[in-house]
Amino acid sequence: MDAASSSTSQCRYSYEEYKETADWLLAQTEQRPKVAIICGSGLGGLADLLEDKTGFPYEKIPNFPTSTVEGHAGQLVFGRLQGRECVCMQGRFHFYEGYNIHKVTYPVRVFYLLGVETVIVTNAAGGLNGSYDVGNIMLIKDHINMPGFAGQNPLCGHNDDRFGKRFPCMSDAYDRELMALAKQTAEEQGCGKFLQEGVYCMLAGPSYETIAECRLLKVLGADAVGMSTVPEVVVARHCGLRVLGLSLITNKVVTDYDSIEKANHEEVLRTTKSRSQDLQRLVGHLITKI
Ligand code: HPA
Repeated sequence: MDAASSSTSQCRYSYEEYKETADWLLAQTEQRPKVAIICGSGLGGLADLLEDKTGFPYEKIPNFPTSTVEGHAGQLVFGRLQGRECVCMQGRFHFYEGYNIHKVTYPVRVFYLLGVETVIVTNAAGGLNGSYDVGNIMLIKDHINMPGFAGQNPLCGHNDDRFGKRFPCMSDAYDRELMALAKQTAEEQGCGKFLQEGVYCMLAGPSYETIAECRLLKVLGADAVGMSTVPEVVVARHCGLRVLGLSLITNKVVTDYDSIEKANHEEVLRTTKSRSQDLQRLVGHLITKI
C-alpha cells in the first residue's frame, strides 16, 4: 500500500469539502467573526452568553462531524460576546470518541475559510505540576503532541498549500501577545492568583493515566495532561491562525502509589461546573482586547 492510500490519507477531506461547509455557513449568517472559541468539556456555557446568537447543530452543517461525549451539546454558535463577534464550538470532537484526526480538526479549517484570525481553545486537564491547585487556570505556553509521536499528526498526508506550508513551525504555537493579554485581564479581574502558565501534554485517552505515566509526563516537562486541543492547535497554526490555549485544572493526577485518589470523570465535571464561570469571564473580557 502506498502512502496516498494508507488509512490516514483516505480519511482526509478535500479543500472543496471544507469550502462547502464554510460557504454554507456564510450563506446562513451575516456575522463574520474574527475569533473562534473551541469550548472544552463542560465549558460550553460560554456559547450561552453570546448575544444575537444563531446556533447550528453539527448534524445540520454539511460535512461536519457530530459529537457524542457527555457534557457536549454539539453546535456551532455565532454571536457577540461583550459586543465582539465570535463563533463558538459548543462541544468538540475527541480522538478517543473514535474520530480520525482529520475529523477532530475539521472545524479549524472551516474557521480559517470563514475569515477567523484567532482561535481560543479551552479544555479540562489534570494537573501534573505539584504547585497547581484544582480550579486553577493554566495558560498553555507550549504542548507535547503525544499522539503525534505515534503518527497521529493531522498534517500527515498530502499538504494542501491553500491551507499552509508542508513543514509549519510549532515553536511559536501559542501567541505570546495573547498570553500577556490573558494575564493582564486575569489581574484586572482579581483572579491572577488562579492563573498558571505551563506545558500541556495530550494523550489519546479515554483511559486516564497510570501512576507511572504521570511520573513520566512530569519528567518530560508537562504541567497538565488532557485528551484534546493539540490537533486543533497544530491545524490552526498550519493555516496561520493565532492561538490562545486555556486549561482548567479539574483534578490533580496521582503520582503516589500510596494514594487512594483516583482520576474520574465525575470529579472533572464537578470542578468544571464550579469553575467554568471564572474561565468564561476571563475569555469574555479578553475577547474585547483582541
Ligand atoms: N487526565 C487526562 N485528561 C484529563 C484529566 C486527567 O487527569 N483531567 C481532565 N482531563
